[in-house]
Amino acid sequence: MEDLSASTVTQATVEQMAGTPDPRLREVMESLVRHLHGFAREVRLTPDEWLKAIGFLTRVGQACSPTRQEFILLSDVLGLSALVHLMHDEAAPESGTQSSLLGPFYRQDAPEIPLGGSLARQATGPELLLYGRVSDNAGHPVPHALVQLWQTDAEGHYDLQARDAAIDMRGNVRCDEQGRFYVRTLVPLGYSIPMDGPVGALVRQQGRHGCRPAHIHVLIGAPGYRELVTALYFGDDPHVDSDTVFGVSKALVVRPHADDPEAPVQGIPAVRYDFRLGHAHGEDSGRVGADPKQFMAAK
Ligand code: BEZ
Ligand code: FE
Repeated sequence: MEDLSASTVTQATVEQMAGTPDPRLREVMESLVRHLHGFAREVRLTPDEWLKAIGFLTRVGQACSPTRQEFILLSDVLGLSALVHLMHDEAAPESGTQSSLLGPFYRQDAPEIPLGGSLARQATGPELLLYGRVSDNAGHPVPHALVQLWQTDAEGHYDLQARDAAIDMRGNVRCDEQGRFYVRTLVPLGYSIPMDGPVGALVRQQGRHGCRPAHIHVLIGAPGYRELVTALYFGDDPHVDSDTVFGVSKALVVRPHADDPEAPVQGIPAVRYDFRLGHAHGEDSGRVGADPKQFMAAK
C-alpha cells in the first residue's frame, strides 16, 4: 500500500471509479473529480472554507420546496444554466430561435387560454399584446403548436411568490392552422432574483445587483419539433445588459410598438415575435429547469 499525497489522490479516486458500468456516468464523474480537485489545488482550499461551502450547499438544499428551487437559482447565478443552454443550441442539428433560461417559476399546471385570451386573471397594470407565428426553420408554419407563456405581474412578482400561489400571469395558447398566436397580457416588470435565501446572500456578498430585466418566458412544443425554451427581454429595461443569470441575447430583445397596424388587436401596445423550431432528432429536452414540484417528487 502506498500513502496518498495531494498529487496522487486524484488518480487514486479516478481509478477506484473506473469500473462504473454506465459509461456516461463514468465519464462525467471522472471529469468532475479531476476539475474539483484541480479547483481545490488552485485556490489552496482550507478545511474551514470547505466546511463553509458544505454549510452553504446544505442551506441551498434546505431552501428548496414545492414552490422554490434554490439549486437551479445557484446554477443560474453561476452562469452554468446559460452555458448548458448555449451548448444545447450549438449542438442543434437545425437552428431555431435562440433559447434562454426556463428559470425557477415555470409551472406545469398553467391553464390553456384561447387565442386572444389574457394571461392576467387578477393582476392589473398597463396592457400589452404579444403575437407572432411559429414556423419551422425553413419558414413553414407549425400548425397548432402549444405556446406556454409566463411572466411577472406589473409589480415584478410571479404568482408562485404570492402566499397562496394562485395561478396568474401565465397561460398556454394553441396556435392556429397557420402557426399564428396572440394573447393579451400586462407589461412585465424587471425584478430581483429571490434574494432571501443562501444564493441571494452570495450574490449580495459579490456586490451584484441581483436583477433580471423585464421578460416574458416562452416554451413552445409541437410533435416532431425540438422543444423551444426561451424568453423575450424588454429593451428599455435598465438591466438588459447586465442580467444576473445571463439569459439575454440580442435576438431576444423586443420593444413594444404603440401603433402596429398588423397587430390582431388594436389600441394597446404590441410586441410581435416569430419563433422558429428545429425538427427533433431524438435529443434531450432543452429545459434547464423544471416545475419545482417535480424535484420534490424525484427519488
Ligand atoms: C426567471 O426568469 O424567472 C429567473 C431565472 C433565473 C433565476 C431567477 C429567476
Ligand atoms: Fe423570469
